[in-house]
Amino acid sequence: MNVLLGITGGIAAYKTPELVRRLRGRGADVQIVTTASAAEFVTETALQAVSGRPVRANLWDKEAEASMSHIELARWADVVLIAPATAEIMARLASGAAADLLTTLCLATEAPIAIAPAMNHVMWNNPAVQANRRTLEQRGVRILGPDYGSQACGETGAGRMLDPDEIAAIVCGPQLAGTDGQQLLAGKTVLVTAGPTREPIDPVRYITNRSSGKMGYAIASAAAAQGARVVLVSGPVSLPEPAGVEVIHVKTAAQMYAATHDSIAGVDVFIAAAAVSDYRPADAPQQKIKKTQETMRLELVRSDDILASVAGLDDAPFTIGFAAETENVRDYALGKLKNKKLDMIVANKVGEDCGFDYDDNAVDVYWRDGEQSFAKTAKTDLARQIVQLIAERYEATRGAATQPKLTVISTKDQ
Ligand SMILES: Cc1cc2nc3c(=O)[nH]c(=O)nc-3n(C[C@H](O)[C@H](O)[C@H](O)COP(=O)(O)O)c2cc1C
Repeated sequence: MNVLLGITGGIAAYKTPELVRRLRGRGADVQIVTTASAAEFVTETALQAVSGRPVRANLWDKEAEASMSHIELARWADVVLIAPATAEIMARLASGAAADLLTTLCLATEAPIAIAPAMNHVMWNNPAVQANRRTLEQRGVRILGPDYGSQACGETGAGRMLDPDEIAAIVCGPQLAGTDGQQLLAGKTVLVTAGPTREPIDPVRYITNRSSGKMGYAIASAAAAQGARVVLVSGPVSLPEPAGVEVIHVKTAAQMYAATHDSIAGVDVFIAAAAVSDYRPADAPQQKIKKTQETMRLELVRSDDILASVAGLDDAPFTIGFAAETENVRDYALGKLKNKKLDMIVANKVGEDCGFDYDDNAVDVYWRDGEQSFAKTAKTDLARQIVQLIAERYEATRGAATQPKLTVISTKDQ
């Protein structure tokens, strides 16, 4: 595969020699094009050494233009990848500008374009940047990431460039539209629930759990990347809305139940990755409870079971549940698969260094006559692998001439 790698002037450019190595390790030929700002962060010498090709930086380089013109370069590319992509390049691409080599190439190519944005989280959340992101998405540009985490500026938020290996896996894998033309969930509608719920005790207090929503959000993104229309019913989390996904925000388990059932018609895949509160306070007074007694009792009542209610529908979608357990993970997961009549269950152990709120996870997936283990990796990567397996199982059981529905249900999101 011929990858035309555009590098722009973000701090994450220092990771690009590694990205080039990862791309080449997957068999890609890499031609690098840098912007003027990129040269401030990474040297041409390093990039030329790892790519094995002279770096292109200037539209007006007569010698380079004579050996392979910018139009020929645009035709040569099977994929154009821009990583890191600055706020500035996103604006230039969205506006259709062509004042430099990289933007000119992007206008002149028929290859799919993918960008891996990387910037300070406040920049990423700026309405202008988000408007450009939407414009690019609507034109078919694939947006890879960004990841959530600690940033070069010392703050934490969404804006980190995806890990080079993850980028290489997407660009060289089957997911990028156009590389093999196949998106495993094209034409399907997937409903995902994610995050925790909050059950009010009184107007200022609530019961919740440690779910961060990261796994459910990653699943939603991965399903969208596979061509599905994705609706995400999200409890309260601190994550940016995934690109290309319709998000419905809720707080309580009852609201999540209602939003799920309001959206279920026509859903092929239901993925309930939320950690829904099993119980809620029986009574939440309108006024703050005062500190008048030494002890107090809180009466809790069971919440309605979203997973079971969807799996029990007459026309139930292909249903996948998640089981987050602290012990006997396999037994509990298999029990849940059977009792709730799920199509699949994704099980993981919640422990010291895995599960809730961690960026990495390892899971075992079970279905009626099979199982598959997934080694510890970034949740974004894991989500892609899980969604791929779900699509395969769906195709095997309900695909083609059988039913047109795929439901994924998860009960525990991390
Ligand atoms: C030290 C430093 C770090 C920067 N990091 C980023 C970054 O991570 N993301 C970003 O969008 N812009 C960043 N910028 C700003 C861009 O370099 C600037 O907008 C530039 O015009 C981008 O041009 P280009 O997109 O043509 O490479 C940074 C600037 C400096 C001085």
